[in-house]
Amino acid sequence: MTLLLDDITLTYPDGDGRLTALDRVGLRVPAGGLTAVVGPSGSGKSSLLAVAATLVTPDSGRVVIDGTEATALTRTESAELRRRAIGIVFQQPNLLPSLTALEQLQVMAHLEGRKPREVRDRARELLDAVDLSAQSHRRPHQLSGGQRQRVNIARALINEPRVLLVDEPTSALDHERGAAVLDLLRNLTQERRTATVLVTHDRDHLTVADEVQEMRDGAIVAIDAPAVSSPCGD
Ligand SMILES: Nc1ncnc2c1ncn2[C@@H]1O[C@H](COP(=O)(O)OP(=O)(O)OP(=O)(O)O)[C@@H](O)[C@H]1O
Ligand SMILES: [Mg+2]
Repeated sequence: MTLLLDDITLTYPDGDGRLTALDRVGLRVPAGGLTAVVGPSGSGKSSLLAVAATLVTPDSGRVVIDGTEATALTRTESAELRRRAIGIVFQQPNLLPSLTALEQLQVMAHLEGRKPREVRDRARELLDAVDLSAQSHRRPHQLSGGQRQRVNIARALINEPRVLLVDEPTSALDHERGAAVLDLLRNLTQERRTATVLVTHDRDHLTVADEVQEMRDGAIVAIDAPAVSSPCGD
C-alpha cells in the first residue's frame, strides 16, 4: 500500500479542552489509486490531508508512505520524505507572481544529481501532460484560473511523488473546468502511479474516484454500503 493511515487520532487545543479533528481514521491508497474524501465543512478533510502530508503529527496512529513509517521520523527526516515522495495541491495555487509557468516547476525541483537541462525537460514534459505547453512562458496573471490550477498540479508532480494529496482543486472553477481538472487528476494518477487523495465538496465529480470516503465529525463513516440482504430473502 503506497499510502497507509492507520488508526489516526488528531486533536487541537480548544479552550480548556481539546477538539477531536480526526477520530481513529484509517485510509489505504494503492499506487495508481484515487480516493475521494467528502464531508461537510469542519468534518476533518483538510486535517486528514495535513497528517498524510506529514505536515501535522497526529496524537496517535501511524502514517506509512511507500513503506516508510513517517510518524516515526524526526522533523528533518519527514521534511525530506515530503520533498521526495509527496506532492501537495492546495486549493489556492500559491504560484509565485514573478515566475513563468515553466519556472514555477523548475524552482520546486529537488532532483538530486540532475542537470538543469534535465530539470527543464521534465518541467516541459509535465506542462505538456497538463496541456499547457503553449503557456509555459506565461506568468500567473496571464493564465486563467483553470490553467493556474493545472500549473499547480504539474508543480506537485515535479519530484515524481509516490503520493499526491489534493485539497478542493475545483472550488474556484466553474463546473466544466472543474470536471476537466478532475479528469486530468484521474489520468495523471494512472499514468504516474501515484496514490492520490482528493478532497472535494463536489459530489458530481466523484465518478473519477476508485473509492469514496465520507467524513463526519472527524470520523470516516460508511457510505454506499451495499444493502444487507435479508436471510428470509423477501
Ligand atoms: N489549527 C487548528 N487549530 C484548532 N482547530 C483547528 C485547526 N485546524 C482545524 N481545526 C478544527 O478542526 C476541525 C476540522 O477542520 P478541517 O479544516 O480539517 O475541516 P474540513 O473538513 O477541511 O473543512 P472545510 O470543508 O471547511 O475545508 C474543525 O472543527 C476546525 O475548526
Ligand atoms: Mg478543508
